[in-house]
Parts: sequence; C-alpha cells; structure tokens
Amino acid sequence: MKYPILLAALFFAGSAVAVDCVECHEEIPVAQHVEDGATLAMCADCHAIGDAHEIDMEMHTPELTITECTDCHQMEK
Ligand code: HEC
Ligand code: HEC
Ligand code: HEC
Repeated sequence: MKYPILLAALFFAGSAVAVDCVECHEEIPVAQHVEDGATLAMCADCHAIGDAHEIDMEMHTPELTITECTDCHQMEK
C-alpha cells in the first residue's frame, strides 16, 4: 500500500517548487557521493544535515539516492 502514497508524493512534488541546493551551498560533489552509495538515510552519518534542514519524510524516502535528489534539486552549478 505504499505505492499510492508515493504517487501522491510525486504529484505533490511536481506542483511544489524544490529548492536548488547550490543557491546556498557550494557545488555538491555528486560523483563522489554516487561512489559512496549515499542515500538520504546516510546523509546524517557524515553531515549535520538535520540541524539546518527539516526534511519532510512524506515527500522523501530514506532510500533516495543522491542522483535521485538531483531530479528535483539542483546540486551542481
Ligand atoms: C520528487 C522530488 C524530490 C526528490 C527526489 C527529492 N526532493 Fe528534497 N524536496 C522536494 C520538495 C518539493 C521539497 C519542499 C520544498 C523545498 O523546500 O524545496 C524538498 C525539500 C528538501 C529539503 C529542505 C530544504 C529546506 O528548505 O530547508 C532538503 C534538505 C531536501 N529536500 C533534500 C533532499 C535530498 C538530500 C534528496 C535526495 C536524497 C531529495 N531532497 C530528493 C522534492 C524532492
Ligand atoms: C536557503 C539556503 C539553503 C538552501 C537552499 C540549502 N541549504 Fe543546506 N544549509 C544551509 C545552512 C545555513 C546550513 C548550516 C550552515 C552550514 O553548515 O553550512 C546548511 C547545512 C546543510 C548541511 C550540513 C552541513 C555539513 O556539511 O555538515 C547539508 C548536508 C545541507 N545543508 C544540504 C542541503 C541540500 C541537500 C540542499 C538542497 C536540497 C540544501 N542544503 C539547501 C542553507 C541552505
Ligand atoms: C561517506 C560520507 C558522506 C555521506 C554518506 C554523504 N556525504 Fe556529502 N560530502 C562528503 C564529503 C567528504 C564532502 C566533501 C567535503 C565537504 O565539503 O564537506 C561532501 C560534500 C557535500 C556537500 C557540499 C559541501 C557542504 O557541506 O556544503 C553537500 C551539500 C553534501 N555533501 C550533501 C550530502 C547529502 C544530501 C547526502 C545524503 C544524500 C550526503 N552528502 C552524504 C561526505 C559524505
């Protein structure tokens, strides 16, 4: 029963505007993160991401990979 929720989240995301990370951050070394196999669940292992950002977990799942982030958020300049 997770599928309809995912579709709803994608539909909602499509109508919401996702922030570009590079508006505030330096370019994110995406290739390096791909090599590390980084997923959303792992960001906090290396970064204090939760201190600065509240990530809505109805819109995001822990399994999202860094390349999937770039579908919605600009991470490279
Ligand atoms: C389906 C599109 C989509 C995907 C994929 C996605 N996001 Fe998001 N994200 C959004 C939307 C929409 C918001 C809410 C609006 C906003 O603040 O950008 C958001 C918000 C955020 C925020 C909060 C920004 C703030 O305002 O503080 C962070 C951080 C974030 N996402 C990180 C990630 C990361 C990391 C990944 C990959 C693991 C990811 N997102 C994947 C759509 C997406
Ligand atoms: C409106 C400005 C802004 C935007 C847009 C933004 N951030 Fe941030 N972010 C910050 C600030 C401010 C901090 C806390 C200070 C710092 O550590 O740089 C932070 C901290 C972080 C950290 C922890 C810092 C570290 O190295 O430990 C991560 C990871 C992060 N942000 C990821 C993202 C991602 C991914 C996005 C895009 C979805 C994003 N941010 C968009 C302002 C922003
Ligand atoms: C294995 C450790 C590791 C993991 C897991 C990881 N990163 Fe990184 N990340 C790094 C390193 C190393 C750098 C480059 C050095 C630096 O700038 O801190 C970096 C750089 C960044 C930067 C740009 C530098 C900054 O702090 O502004 C952002 C943003 C970022 N990572 C976001 C993420 C996000 C989002 C995730 C989860 C999808 C993630 N990282 C997972 C190690 C990691």
